[in-house]
Amino acid sequence: MESNRIPFLDLVTPHRELKDELAAVFAHALDTAGFIGGPMVEDFEKSFAKFCDVQYCVGVGSGTDALRFALMAAGVGPDDAVITVPNTFIATSEAVSQCGALPRFVDVNERTYNMDVNKLGEYLDSECSYNDGNGKLVDKRTGRGVKAIVPVHLYGQMADMDPILELAEKYHLIVIEDACQAHGAEYLSRRDQGWKKAGSMGKAAAFSFYPGKNLGACGEGGAVTTNDAALAQKVRSLRDHGQAQKYYHDMEGYNGRLDSIQAGILHVKLRRLSQWNERRRECALRYQELLGAASEVIKLPFEPSWSRAVYHLYVVQVQYREKLQKQLGEAGIGTGIHYPIPLHQQKAYKNLGYHEGDFPVTEKAAAKILSLPMFPGLSHAQQDRVAQQVLEFVAGESSAGASAAPPLTNAISQRA
Ligand SMILES: Cc1ncc(COP(=O)(O)O)c(C=O)c1O
Repeated sequence: MESNRIPFLDLVTPHRELKDELAAVFAHALDTAGFIGGPMVEDFEKSFAKFCDVQYCVGVGSGTDALRFALMAAGVGPDDAVITVPNTFIATSEAVSQCGALPRFVDVNERTYNMDVNKLGEYLDSECSYNDGNGKLVDKRTGRGVKAIVPVHLYGQMADMDPILELAEKYHLIVIEDACQAHGAEYLSRRDQGWKKAGSMGKAAAFSFYPGKNLGACGEGGAVTTNDAALAQKVRSLRDHGQAQKYYHDMEGYNGRLDSIQAGILHVKLRRLSQWNERRRECALRYQELLGAASEVIKLPFEPSWSRAVYHLYVVQVQYREKLQKQLGEAGIGTGIHYPIPLHQQKAYKNLGYHEGDFPVTEKAAAKILSLPMFPGLSHAQQDRVAQQVLEFVAGESSAGASAAPPLTNAISQRA
């Protein structure tokens, strides 16, 4: 029987359903004492590489490790600048800083919430210049050499990769995809004339297997995917103290391995991932239908024709977000905000010298976005209840009158 509460994310049911298979993974690890490395890790890496349409996958300790190792292996280091977006989880920029590089932000597109390719072009054209001495592209404000772009495939939808790759080629920049929220998402590439998987388009990509992700471990985990054999080898070395052979260290590295039990668990779940992603897509479509009538007031997710999103999150924008969130909470419906404070406005990044108003699309979105319940097992009845609550809220706000509720556009300009 369905409980009355609708969780934001149901992590219990899929684990119950897979209990025997998951327990068998644990039993096998106990029988063989194979806790670190070995066939469970290698088999998962092969299968995940195949799933992402790439040649190599290297399992690591987390998505943050994956980003940091991919950037380092691609040659990003101190004195470099790396371009990414302010509308993401802090791990994206932490990984950049942890390489010794400096994050530089460009705003996101207001419909997809992903990197705005026009803003990226403007930044490269007007905020960077070529150094006379060595011909390197330099960020004029900081004097740092611009080395890489990290587009984030946020909420399960890929960034518009063709123009990003074209700009990267024009300016000789490396592209590392942050695919931590986009396992299985696809992009219709006009350049390559076909659908491409998240994690297969940049020089390398980073995935997170944090439990709540579309493919989540029962603990921490991550992976780097790439078609570059040398980069894959470097990441293998970085995750394991810089050693290619036990106790022979070519460089200093990290303890950043994917453990065998997590790899075995991920392998079991990987077999269901496409089916789970399909269910998420069906749920998203149903939300669009149920909430479509209120789309003047609630901004629903937008999926361009070149995208097949996997809806890690289903994010709407609404005026009086806190009030709606409270009302949903009182009705037993879980929600989230991803993310309430843009990175350039975080205390941690005071040193970057950004100000309120620098990234207006991100700032406006951060004040109004709300993530509704989204998981493969979300039932029709549950979605109906969520939609009914949201529609009732909207109707209530509209009838409360224009004086109490300033039009959406006014409220936006007040904040900017
Ligand atoms: C966009 C993004 N990048 C990076 C990460 C970092 O992954 P992890 O938590 O596995 O280190 C996450 C995880 O939440 C994420 O959502």
